[in-house]
Amino acid sequence: MTVLTKPEVITTIDELQGRLCLAKQNIAAKGGDAHVVLVPTMGALHDGHRALVRRAVALGQIVVVSIFVNPLQFGVNEDLDTYPRTLDADVAALAEEGATFVFAPHTRQMYPDGASTTRVTAGAVGSLYEGAARPGHFDGMLTVVAKLFNIVEPDVAVFGQKDAQQVFLVERMVADLNLRTSIEVVPTVREDTGLALSSRNRNLDEPARTAARSLSVGLTAAAAAAHGGVPAAIVAAHAVIGASPLVKLDYLVVVHPHTYLVVDDDYRGQARMLVAAMVGSTRLIDNISLDIP
Ligand code: PAF
Repeated sequence: MTVLTKPEVITTIDELQGRLCLAKQNIAAKGGDAHVVLVPTMGALHDGHRALVRRAVALGQIVVVSIFVNPLQFGVNEDLDTYPRTLDADVAALAEEGATFVFAPHTRQMYPDGASTTRVTAGAVGSLYEGAARPGHFDGMLTVVAKLFNIVEPDVAVFGQKDAQQVFLVERMVADLNLRTSIEVVPTVREDTGLALSSRNRNLDEPARTAARSLSVGLTAAAAAAHGGVPAAIVAAHAVIGASPLVKLDYLVVVHPHTYLVVDDDYRGQARMLVAAMVGSTRLIDNISLDIP
């Protein structure tokens, strides 16, 4: 029988930093190189998060998983209050994956003076796509990620490709602010139906869950049609996603992987298609890489 070691759940910055210091000393005393890997999350962990943690465990000896539902990245009419909070189940899952520490601070630990006054701004791309639908979301996200990087001082931080615009902005923040953490990106984990795993999927009833599949089916159709160029890829995705009455498309764009700006119709090369839609009352996003010859 395998006995699982539960990760230590820590709620204060001081305690986390003390425990990290000790853990690094212990590894160094044994001649090891104490790599710290951070997996930032908002909890409600699913198999997509587990894949991030598995990658983290492969990358370093000390794996910190933060669980913090960050108020700064939620708009006034968004689901901050109803966002699922499942700490006990999350810790049990993290024990199975071999995380070392769970950092689960209270809001006042992260923002002792209320909404912190200094913020990281995401710049122009932060106002596009998800940022247009959720003003301020990416400033709030980058601010908490920067705080977590400063608190944990990880060598590596692991993010999921499902939140493609988030990954782009985090990578750009790291480059622009000369941060010392390198970013590892893990491919999107999907159900057998293709639906990308998301904490919000638990809000989908059966008809909405069926309709939600059209996002990944549409993206796959776009990737298959990309040899015909950008317009062909867009038409292919629209044909699938637009056919589903429960899906209200917000945006469907093809962006350049290095700028995240929309490419011209005659663009050729690597690109990424981003999609967001309301499926019933749940907002879902997904994306796929396109190779346009
Ligand atoms: O992707 C998320 O869950 C959040 O945006 C993150 C990166 C944990 C910051 O709150």
